[in-house]
Amino acid sequence: MSNINLETTVGGIPLSTCVYNASGPRTGASQALAKIAASSAGAVLTKSATLEKQNGNPLPRVWHADDSKASMNSEGLPNSGIDYYIASATIDETMGEVSGTTTKPYFVSISGKTLADNLDMLDRIAKKIDSGEKRIVSVELNLACPNVIGKPIIAYDYDQLRDILETISEKKYTFPLGLKMPPYLDGKQLQLAAAIINEYSDMVRYVVCINTIGNALSVDPVSEAPYISSNGGLAGLSGPAAKYTALANVRQMRQHLKEEIDVVGVGGIETGEDVFLFLLCGATAVQVGTTHWIEGAKCFDRIVKELKDVLKEKGYSSSSEVVGKLKPWSKEGAKKSRLAKKAKPPPKRTAKEAGTLTEFFANMFMMAVILWLLIDKYVPKPVTKADLDEM
Ligand code: DHB
Repeated sequence: MSNINLETTVGGIPLSTCVYNASGPRTGASQALAKIAASSAGAVLTKSATLEKQNGNPLPRVWHADDSKASMNSEGLPNSGIDYYIASATIDETMGEVSGTTTKPYFVSISGKTLADNLDMLDRIAKKIDSGEKRIVSVELNLACPNVIGKPIIAYDYDQLRDILETISEKKYTFPLGLKMPPYLDGKQLQLAAAIINEYSDMVRYVVCINTIGNALSVDPVSEAPYISSNGGLAGLSGPAAKYTALANVRQMRQHLKEEIDVVGVGGIETGEDVFLFLLCGATAVQVGTTHWIEGAKCFDRIVKELKDVLKEKGYSSSSEVVGKLKPWSKEGAKKSRLAKKAKPPPKRTAKEAGTLTEFFANMFMMAVILWLLIDKYVPKPVTKADLDEM
């Protein structure tokens, strides 16, 4: 077992490993959260809560591409309501066996329909912590949900963003606050958002980049209709297709935010190597959403192991060593990369590809047999001496 250290901090909160779950899939109920708590994930983060329990948009509201390279959702915030996620019984059920020993940090995500709803939920959380529930370590305020029909993404509206941060700052909550941000597809727009957040650096301890890429559409060629039923099929895009936008947002947020505000990366992480890339771009921790959705909580054990292997192979002894250490492009670096690619054994073929190759050779064999039979039947043979003797 390698002794690579993956400990980190997010907004001052210590995590045993720098990988945990994203709010969203498999986070709505204590049974699902318990599986995260029992895994190698460094923390547990709840589904985005609204003030009251709600059922969300009609089904089908999620879609996965056949090649697993993209997913979409337009769930409309189905959740059990804030009181469920902060109830000590829910946290007990989540932490299970872990409870008696080292409890994992429990983060609560909120996504109020209005500023008043968000303030109400923050008040309830503050009250709960004051009453002695110390396992709730932080709130991730979701300013980026793209799927509430008729409501634009809050963090794209800079007046609203400033207004919400100003109002919350007046409340002087003592718990660390994080912000879940949408992807910015323009560097200047990202800088404007970072500048506003910087004005509240005494309150915002970390930002989480990125939420799904909103306003995406997947179309079924058979039914000639969107795969997702609500909102004209428009939905948030996630999975590997979102990774490059996520890396760019993490990198630029790191460059433009004040140093004391941490960046948490999320978007398309499938492997330990993906985590490594997010660390290089400046994330102190990462969240896993779509892969957790597809693979279940065992993905945290796999990704953590893979990350340790990557760090070990590259000669690092901890994840914190590489945070923000992205190098500028150089000729030497590109050459090193080309050589490494050449030295690498060819990737193992998947069972599917291997199957395709077997099929190819079987077809070739069949064609050869048919050709041989046709030649035998129709092509005149040369007259031999024996034939002449018989005449
Ligand atoms: C939903 C989607 C999001 O991207 C998010 O941040 C919160 C909720 C949803 O559709 O339920």
